Amino acid sequence: MYHNPVMLNECLKGLNIKPDGTFVDITFGGGGHSKAILKLLDKRGKLIAFDQDEDAQKNLPADDERFVFIDQNFEFIQNHLAYQNLIPVDGLLADLGVSSHQFDTDERGFSYRFDDAELDMRMDKSNSLSATSLLNNYTEEQLADVFYQYGELHNSRTLAKQIINSRTQKKIETVADLKKALEKSAPKFKDYKFWSQVFQALRIEVNRELEVLKSLLMQSKEVLNTNGRLVIMSYHSLEDRLVKNFINTGNFNGELEKDFYGNIIRPFNPISKKAITPSKDELEKNPRSRSAKLRIAERV
Ligand SMILES: C[S@@+](CC[C@H](N)C(=O)[O-])C[C@H]1O[C@@H](n2cnc3c(N)ncnc32)[C@H](O)[C@@H]1O
Repeated sequence: MYHNPVMLNECLKGLNIKPDGTFVDITFGGGGHSKAILKLLDKRGKLIAFDQDEDAQKNLPADDERFVFIDQNFEFIQNHLAYQNLIPVDGLLADLGVSSHQFDTDERGFSYRFDDAELDMRMDKSNSLSATSLLNNYTEEQLADVFYQYGELHNSRTLAKQIINSRTQKKIETVADLKKALEKSAPKFKDYKFWSQVFQALRIEVNRELEVLKSLLMQSKEVLNTNGRLVIMSYHSLEDRLVKNFINTGNFNGELEKDFYGNIIRPFNPISKKAITPSKDELEKNPRSRSAKLRIAERV
């Protein structure tokens, strides 16, 4: 299975699909959400999908005139949609992060389970920065920043020092090399959380995940129609915080803006006050959905 779509029904409901509408799935992956959206559109409807990973193209639907695939980073969504004359759109879905396929393919280097795997972690294989290049070329300070900001690891300076010490003896290339470099800092038992944080930090930096998410959110204001829906599913608190603040206030620090008369100005109305999380049933069937948080908003 390439990827099991998470909170499928909740996302479809959130998009408020009109059969003749234009929708965007900016994280196509295995195409689970896209294929379900296509089923709800009639022949006037349109779906545009993005994925920067060439592997996702294995999952494209058979010839369908209503479907357009863009093999690019969604960072430039507005340009791509404008070029194809597709603005405004009625709904935009993002299911952030990596797919099960990416995570379970050892040579992609996303998972600490495969000791021999090279530390790649690029979603777009044409990018020049991989986790290996980062680990062997960043300065101690840059490494500490990555671990602190994106892994929320409080011993980030120690970790950075250990990387520098290790790489002066031998280049860090594989998961095993990284584990060896940081072995003194890893907890003896239940080290799962520690390695998840280390790998998360590297992955976010390699793929500039927070930067592209911010850019996407800002552009969503320009591409969505009035009453158009923004549906975003995130898998860690750094992303969810940005999405939550943006939906509530239109900016990333969460401060409400007011006009001259004291009326609140915000580009979106949140549809659900709290983030939606997977049902008990879904959690049992698909434990990987456990960290998912879904937020839905409507363009004012
Ligand atoms: C969690 S998966 C999506 C799964 C999909 N909803 C499904 O049901 O199969 C995320 C996908 O988004 C892609 N992706 C992540 N960030 C991206 C970006 N900035 N631009 C384009 N694609 C991106 C990844 O390559 C991955 O295939």
